[in-house]
Amino acid sequence: MTAEPLERTLDRHGRLAGPEGFPEPGRLVLRGALESDLPELRRLDEEVFQEVAYPAFLLRQLYDVYAQHFLVLDDGAGGLRGYVLAATTAFGRDSWILGLCVTEGDRRHGLGRELMTEILARLRQDGIDTVRLTVEPANRAAILLYRSLGFTPEEPDGGLRRDYFGPGEHRQVLRLELC
Ligand SMILES: CC(C)(COP(=O)(O)OP(=O)(O)OC[C@H]1O[C@@H](n2cnc3c(N)ncnc32)[C@H](O)[C@@H]1OP(=O)(O)O)[C@@H](O)C(=O)NCCC(=O)NCCS
Repeated sequence: MTAEPLERTLDRHGRLAGPEGFPEPGRLVLRGALESDLPELRRLDEEVFQEVAYPAFLLRQLYDVYAQHFLVLDDGAGGLRGYVLAATTAFGRDSWILGLCVTEGDRRHGLGRELMTEILARLRQDGIDTVRLTVEPANRAAILLYRSLGFTPEEPDGGLRRDYFGPGEHRQVLRLELC
């Protein structure tokens, strides 16, 4: 397993554990996604998002286009425990968070926040001005995380977009200005 590009090493509780070394069991590494991650990414995405997981072909092409802003949590034992993906519009300076997850057994240890903090830092560094995302209005955990990072509803209607993903599939649009 490769450790490049190695950004941060986190212990199993999400604490920073030093920058050195390859991922070892019990340690998590936050790094850029690799092409070789795609099968495990697909498994992880299905585990977390089930019937609304990305189809394999779309995940593949999201990687092809947006690998620069596709980060994973590598457990050093062949598994991924989370990912975040941001997509930037072609000519603008806007990005959308298209995916964020942490495996169920690893939640509430700060990993979701780590993924978001790192991707926002990279987007800022890459000159992105505005970041948007959609969230299910009942997804309290995600909304609290995003609000704590400074995201606010994109008006009108408190960010609520009815039938955004089809009949009955409402979403709230949140927005963060990075500049
Ligand atoms: C949303 C998600 C990524 C959060 O990951 P996580 O690693 O558990 O989050 P963190 O431990 O970093 O928590 C960060 C903040 O989120 C909020 N939060 C996370 N889980 C929460 C919960 N179950 N209840 C209430 N608040 C919660 C809190 O504000 C928390 O800050 P705090 O620990 O200081 O209170 C995770 O719950 C997940 O993967 N959910 C399923 C997929 C999903 O809904 N993705 C988002 C789609 S828009």
